[in-house]
Amino acid sequence: MKTMLNVALPKGRLGEKVYAMFETAGFPCPSIKENNRKLIFENPECGVRYFWVKPSDVAIYVERGAADIGVAGKDILLEYQPDVYELLDLNLGKCRMCVAAKSGFRDDTRRQLRVATKFTNIAQNYYRSLGRDIDIIHLNGSIEIAPILGLSDVIVDIVETGTTLKENDLLVYDTIVPISARLISNKASYKFKGSQIDQIIRSMNAQMEEAR
Ligand code: PRP
Repeated sequence: MKTMLNVALPKGRLGEKVYAMFETAGFPCPSIKENNRKLIFENPECGVRYFWVKPSDVAIYVERGAADIGVAGKDILLEYQPDVYELLDLNLGKCRMCVAAKSGFRDDTRRQLRVATKFTNIAQNYYRSLGRDIDIIHLNGSIEIAPILGLSDVIVDIVETGTTLKENDLLVYDTIVPISARLISNKASYKFKGSQIDQIIRSMNAQMEEAR
């Protein structure tokens, strides 16, 4: 029997695009397309097993070896710094990590800046690099509400189309870092399943080249 390659896919539209790339790379698993609520699919002939996991959890599965490889956003990799190999930028799920605030916002540097975010490490590192003293407010979602209600002065959050900011009368004040989906690997898996993983990297590179 073939050694199984365990792949953590981010649930959602991005995950479906990523699965198509794995399929083209020689790791098809037709049962994954059956529309049900199953979370694990395998194709023993090709030696692959896929799991659908919450996008922000992919790096945990890979770091701990429950998955050999997976696809995670650069935002999660920067925020949690998991001990994994970052193998490839897939140029998918592109967005940016930004500082946003109400229009007319002026930073008063004599005061501590109140920053609401899900990404406390990214925000802290960014403001540390500027030497700016901040009060961090950790939220789990709907971050855009914080400056509107006066909970924070600014937010650090992901901007994709900009619609959420616009609909809530907020503006981008700074871009911290561009974000995209990355292929990541567990460090031990890369040693032991390197030939399969390299086959995937080569094919995904070729697929991206073709799409260019
Ligand atoms: C993200 C982010 C913004 C939104 C930006 O939220 O936090 O709210 O997407 O996208 P846009 O620029 O295209 O409007 P997500 O949908 O991940 O949910 P969240 O509220 O849990 O962060």
